[in-house]
Amino acid sequence: MAPEGHKRIAQATRRPGEHLAIRPCPRDLEERLELPGLALLLRPIRPEDAAAYADLIARTGADDLRMRFFAPARTLPARGLDRCTQINYDREMAFVAAQDGSGDILGEVRIFTYPGGDTAEFALLVRTDLQRRGLGRALLRKAIEYCRARGNSTLIGQIRTDNEAMLALARQCGMEVETAPGASLAVAHLALRPACAGVGPA
Ligand SMILES: CC(C)(COP(=O)(O)OP(=O)(O)OC[C@H]1O[C@@H](n2cnc3c(N)ncnc32)[C@H](O)[C@@H]1OP(=O)(O)O)[C@@H](O)C(=O)NCCC(=O)NCCS
Repeated sequence: MAPEGHKRIAQATRRPGEHLAIRPCPRDLEERLELPGLALLLRPIRPEDAAAYADLIARTGADDLRMRFFAPARTLPARGLDRCTQINYDREMAFVAAQDGSGDILGEVRIFTYPGGDTAEFALLVRTDLQRRGLGRALLRKAIEYCRARGNSTLIGQIRTDNEAMLALARQCGMEVETAPGASLAVAHLALRPACAGVGPA
C-alpha cells in the first residue's frame, strides 16, 4: 500500500503505440541477412511497400500464388494491397525480405495472432525465381523467433497436401505436420515453449 499522502502511479499496461489506430512500424525487429548472392533486410512491412508488394505478386508464378492464397491471386486490387501493407503490427505482422539496393521485396512471412493470443498462424511466400536459396527457411525462422518472443504458445500453418516444398520446409524447421484422411489441407504446428529449440540460424 502507498504511504499516506503519496499517490500510487498506475503502471502502464499498454504496449507502446497501442492506442493508435495505425501503429508505427517497429524498427527494432529489423535484421540484416546475407544469403549466397543476396544481401537482404528482413523487416516489418510498411505502408510505402504497396508497389514493391504488388511487384512480388506479379513476379510470382500462378502455382505458387495458389499454394499461398489457396486461390488464384494474380492481381490484388488497390484496397487489397493497402490491407496487406497497412497492418497493425499486433494481431497481424508481416516480415518482408527486402533486397539491398533495389528495395525489391523477394518474399514475405505473414503472421496472424488468434484472439486470446496463444496461437499464431503463418503464411509464407518466396518469389518464384528466388526459391531454393534459403529465403523461405530464413523467413519461417524469423516468424518462429518473433512468435516465441511475443509469448505465443503455438505456431501453426495451413499447407496444401500437394505442397511438397512447404511440407518439407515445415518439417525441416521442427514443425509437426498432421493431415486428416481425405483433407486437402495439412496443419503444421510448433510448440513455442523455451524447451523446444525450433530452428537455428538460416
Ligand atoms: C514453400 C516456399 C516458401 C519455400 O521457399 P524457399 O525459399 O524455396 O525455401 P528454402 O530455399 O529456404 O528451402 C528450405 C527447405 O525447404 C524444402 N524445399 C524447398 N523447396 C522445395 C521443393 N521444391 N521441393 C522439396 N523441398 C523443398 C527443402 O527441405 C529445403 O531445404 P534444402 O534446400 O536444404 O533441401 C516457396 O516454395 C514458396 O513460396 N512456395 C509458394 C507459396 C507457398 O507454398 N507458401 C506456403 C503457404 S503456408
